[in-house]
Amino acid sequence: MPFDQSGPWRRWIADPDKIRNIGINLTHFKGLLEERFTFLDVGCNRGYVYDLIARELKQFYYTGIDINPDLIEDAKKFHKQLNCEFEVGDIYDKLPKADIVLCSRLIIHLDDPKSAVEGLLRAAQRKLVLFVGVGKEKREAHDGELFRRFSEKTVRSWGDCEIIKGGSYSTVIYG
Ligand SMILES: C[S@@+](CC[C@H](N)C(=O)[O-])C[C@H]1O[C@@H](n2cnc3c(N)ncnc32)[C@H](O)[C@@H]1O
Repeated sequence: MPFDQSGPWRRWIADPDKIRNIGINLTHFKGLLEERFTFLDVGCNRGYVYDLIARELKQFYYTGIDINPDLIEDAKKFHKQLNCEFEVGDIYDKLPKADIVLCSRLIIHLDDPKSAVEGLLRAAQRKLVLFVGVGKEKREAHDGELFRRFSEKTVRSWGDCEIIKGGSYSTVIYG
């Protein structure tokens, strides 16, 4: 299966603060999260972003989608909470709607990021949050896997957005 996560996911599930090391954090859109809300995480891997959200917020329902059934099986095994579910799914297929959609470090690997983002935008009822490399446009292959970085112009061509520049990854918020 493509683009598995080689990161220390067991540690991330055990201690969600460790995820902050890769830069995913909620501070940029936390203001939105005071109410009950639904959250869709596309390319959720083993669901460790759920643990990060659950640490800070209570009133949400999380759906994680990933193309790799083995990862979804692990995600289900490690998350028995009632406010989350995990499903096998492809970013290019019709996605369930949610208030906030997150897609972290997935479209950087895709041949057709534009149509993936169009689907994400259709699913996002309030905000779409992308976690991607932003800088000089780049397309590289390592070990048969594609890695991209998008220019600001490219991410803005997908819709009005706020770009919060990070190191390897930036947070791009639509809506
Ligand atoms: C590099 S990992 C990122 C995982 C996590 N979102 C993060 O940022 O740590 C990419 C994830 O996307 C999943 N993936 C790859 N292609 C996909 C597709 N077409 N639709 C849904 N998920 C996909 C992979 O199985 C993998 O879990």
